[in-house]
Amino acid sequence: MPKVVSVHSYRGGTGKSNFTANLATTVAALGNRVGVVDTDVPSPGIHNLFCLEPEQMGKTLNSYLWGEIAIEDAAYDVSNNVGLNGNGTLYLVPSSVKADDIARILKDGYDVKLMNDGFRSLVKALQLDYLFIDTHPGLSKETFLSIAISHVLILILRPDKQDYQGTAVTIDVARQLNVRRMLLTINKAHSKLNLEALKQKVEETYSETVAGVFPLSEDIVQLASEGVFCVRYPEHPVSQEFRHVAQQIVEG
Ligand SMILES: Nc1ncnc2c1ncn2[C@@H]1O[C@H](COP(=O)(O)OP(=O)(O)OP(=O)(O)O)[C@@H](O)[C@H]1O
Ligand SMILES: [Mg+2]
Repeated sequence: MPKVVSVHSYRGGTGKSNFTANLATTVAALGNRVGVVDTDVPSPGIHNLFCLEPEQMGKTLNSYLWGEIAIEDAAYDVSNNVGLNGNGTLYLVPSSVKADDIARILKDGYDVKLMNDGFRSLVKALQLDYLFIDTHPGLSKETFLSIAISHVLILILRPDKQDYQGTAVTIDVARQLNVRRMLLTINKAHSKLNLEALKQKVEETYSETVAGVFPLSEDIVQLASEGVFCVRYPEHPVSQEFRHVAQQIVEG
C-alpha cells in the first residue's frame, strides 16, 4: 500500500524542504517510486533542491488546483536532476513561483478537498510507493489535511524555545487528528549540545520518539539548496542520519 509522509514544522526555516528532499531521495534510492508535492503555495522552494528551474515548470500544483490540468501533468521526473541511480524514480509536483500565481492563490484560496483528491490521483497515476508532502510552516487547514491523511508525520523542531512551544501545539493537534505515526526530528543542533541528552530531553518532554538528530551543518549551508545533500555527500554523518530516519519510514 502506498505510504503518505508529510513533513511539517510549526516555525519556518526549520529544514522541512531539506528533510523532504533528502528523505524522499533516500527512499527512492532504495528502489521505490516516490512523489513529492510542494504544498507550500505561499513560498515554494523545494524545486531548487531538485534542480528544477522556474522556466521548466510550465505546469504546477496551482494549475491543478485551478482545474486546468490533471495533477500528474504537473509531475516532473527529477531522478536525473538529483543524480539518483538504481531502480528508483523521483517525481516533483512544484508550486508556482510566479508572483501573479502566488497572489491569485492567496487571494482566491482553493478547495482543500481538491488537494486531497490530487494526492490520491497522483499516487494512482504514477503508481507511487511513497508520497512526500512538503508543507508551509504553522497550522492551517492544509496542515490539518496533510496530518490527517498521512501514514507518517515527520515533525521537525530546532532546539529553540519558540520551536518547543509550537511543537507542543502541533503534537496536540496531531493527536486529536489521530495521526497514525509521528516521528520527531531535531535539526540545527549546535556543536556545544550533547545530542544524546537532547534527544532524551525531547522524548521525555513530548512522550514521542525522536527519529533523528541533525547538527547545524556548515556543509548544508554551503550546498545552499543547490542539490540533494545525501546524493552529493553520501558518506557524510548527516546523510547517514537521513538514511537512519528513512529506514524508520520504510520499516514502520
Ligand atoms: N542542519 C542544518 N544545518 C545548517 N543549515 C541547514 C540545516 N538544515 C537546513 N538548513 C538550511 O536552512 C535553511 C532553511 O531550510 P529549509 O528551506 O529546508 O527549511 P523549511 O523549513 O523548508 O523553510 P520554510 O519554512 O521557509 O519552508 C536552508 O538554507 C537550508 O539549507
Ligand atoms: Mg520549505
